[in-house]
Amino acid sequence: MADITQTSKNDRAALMEMIHSTTKTSFEDLLFSYKGILYPSVICSLETFQALEVFEAREDDLLVVTYPKNGTNWLIQILYEIMALVHNRERGLDATMIEFGSPEVIARFKDRLSPRIFSTHLQFKAIPKSFFEKKVKMLLVLRNPKDTAVSFYHFHNNLPSLPSYDCWDSFFKDYIDGNVCYGDYFDFVSAWEKQFNQETMMAITFEEMKLDFLTTVRKISEFFRLPLSEEQIRLVAKNTSFNSMKEKSENTHGKLGDSFFRKGEIGDWKNYFSEDQSKVVDAMFEKYLAGTKLGEMLNYEKYCKF
Ligand code: A3P
Repeated sequence: MADITQTSKNDRAALMEMIHSTTKTSFEDLLFSYKGILYPSVICSLETFQALEVFEAREDDLLVVTYPKNGTNWLIQILYEIMALVHNRERGLDATMIEFGSPEVIARFKDRLSPRIFSTHLQFKAIPKSFFEKKVKMLLVLRNPKDTAVSFYHFHNNLPSLPSYDCWDSFFKDYIDGNVCYGDYFDFVSAWEKQFNQETMMAITFEEMKLDFLTTVRKISEFFRLPLSEEQIRLVAKNTSFNSMKEKSENTHGKLGDSFFRKGEIGDWKNYFSEDQSKVVDAMFEKYLAGTKLGEMLNYEKYCKF
């Protein structure tokens, strides 16, 4: 089994292997709490969080910020495709999640060529200070809270490094209580909403990507100042469609491919939520996000009502 301190050049493959081959099974072994938030213990550690406190960002870094299951892997693949076209880079993916792996993995980030692509599920207050000091551009990707919950539920049951649930109702309770990795969805989005800085941040939604992918790819390339021709935008969209990414997933995610690329649809929540569960999430949306800029972007009436 791979070890969290290993010095393999291919940190990404090593992380996938660690996730796949863990023999831990219980909640207590698979999750740990740091500053009141749960994290997956197979790939996150206290030492890594300490190393992140002194992480040095560069002005031209790119940071993708997502709550889990909001389209992280999709965005990362898009950015790697864009980088291949604009900077003539090889298409292979690196490890991008700043909070995954050992402090050695974080130390090796400094060997990467600029511009570096990073991603994170960290709540606003946990982002290393240097990203703000260096005014690093951050792309926040949001997905409606109901599809997020269903995707997260399946992820828990398919990924060996997360605890399994015997039924949807028990996952739903933990999701609503914020008793899941990275904490409560509404805390996550509300904190980014309060700190949203138009100069350095852009928000997009999973739903807008699904509905008008070319426009979203264009917005992403303009935001990061990575200019693409219309033909290149179409190529990026083709290479990062759900089917294309799922087909390549054995190369990109090894044995975990099916866990990361499940359905890729809007509205699967209707197959899981009861009326009462739906009302609980509606009330939370109303309390925390209704009327806010990010809340409006989620288009709640359209995507989250029966
Ligand atoms: P589902 O479980 O609803 O299928 P993350 O990368 O943050 O873990 O998010 C995973 C979710 O994004 C999964 O949702 C996955 O299927 C979906 N996804 C990944 N790539 C996608 C793509 N190219 N198009 C649409 N959805 C995609």
